[in-house]
Amino acid sequence: MSEQQTIGVIGAGTMGNGIAHVFAARGFQVILCDVEQRFLDRGLETIRKNLDREAAKGKTTADDAKTALARITPVTDRKALAPCALVVEAATEKFEVKKSLFAELDRILAPEAILASNTSSISITRLATTTGRADRVIGMHFFNPVPVMKLVEVIRGMATSQQTFERVRDLAVQLGKTPVEVNDAPGFVSNRVLMPLLNEAMYAVMEGVATPEAIDEVFKLGMAHPMGPLTLADFIGLDVCLDIMRVLQEGFGDPKYRPCPLLVRMVDAGWLGRKSGRGFFTYPA
Ligand code: CAA
Repeated sequence: MSEQQTIGVIGAGTMGNGIAHVFAARGFQVILCDVEQRFLDRGLETIRKNLDREAAKGKTTADDAKTALARITPVTDRKALAPCALVVEAATEKFEVKKSLFAELDRILAPEAILASNTSSISITRLATTTGRADRVIGMHFFNPVPVMKLVEVIRGMATSQQTFERVRDLAVQLGKTPVEVNDAPGFVSNRVLMPLLNEAMYAVMEGVATPEAIDEVFKLGMAHPMGPLTLADFIGLDVCLDIMRVLQEGFGDPKYRPCPLLVRMVDAGWLGRKSGRGFFTYPA
């Protein structure tokens, strides 16, 4: 895929704006789409801040940062995605939302275009069936913060063609990332292994085994994790953690994946972690 080709990104939230950032920084034209202008404004402001931070650290120049930002066109009308050779969907982690988006994108995009999802756990094979191009549907799973984390989990659905896989794998390399090939299964590899760890840490809090601070210290000092599991859960978003646990529970039908009741209660209370100012820890605005 040449750098002249236009890449679409659906969703200007944490993951979507990070994905738009890395494509634009590597010279791609990006069309960033969200349902409301205020979400786009917020996403672009985050990209600007993160590019400025990279410039301040000497990872890019102020001029290149400005040029990268100018490569991103914000739109609210999904029809504007028509010229894209690849669209990466980073919308809400709900199958119904993604299903209708994929069906619509299938109608809008050229037949040869690739539809990728940044889903953290939803089946690529199922998503592909909502389109008439199952061979060109794939998972392209980035990690937060996208400009920093090296991994892209590239997930093959049952019908994903070898050509689609190779194009997306090569594209991840062009972005300076390391692609890792994974087959479609609930939570893929990353969240199948990570989420039960975070969920178990929540059970330990709920049962009074230790405080969130103490649990995080165990993992930072004992296992050299950059963030403890509860800080990480707050960072990912407790609503996202709950959605993923539910996908694992439904997908495997095994009670070992049941979401921690404390997690459910916190999400009900609107304590979603860093983004809402409160989760296992509090975050000043
Ligand atoms: N954009 C650009 N650069 C950024 C950035 C951003 N959004 N966030 C941080 N950085 C840069 C900083 O500028 C800094 O650069 P230097 O090394 O050049 O100084 C570097 O990243 C480290 O940042 P900080 O010094 O501010 O803070 P830190 O050392 O505490 O690191 C962290 C922050 C990178 C987030 C680190 O704590 C970390 O790696 N945490 C674990 C993150 C993780 O596990 N992410 C995956 C979550 S799971 C997921 O995303 C997928 C899913 O499906 C749920």
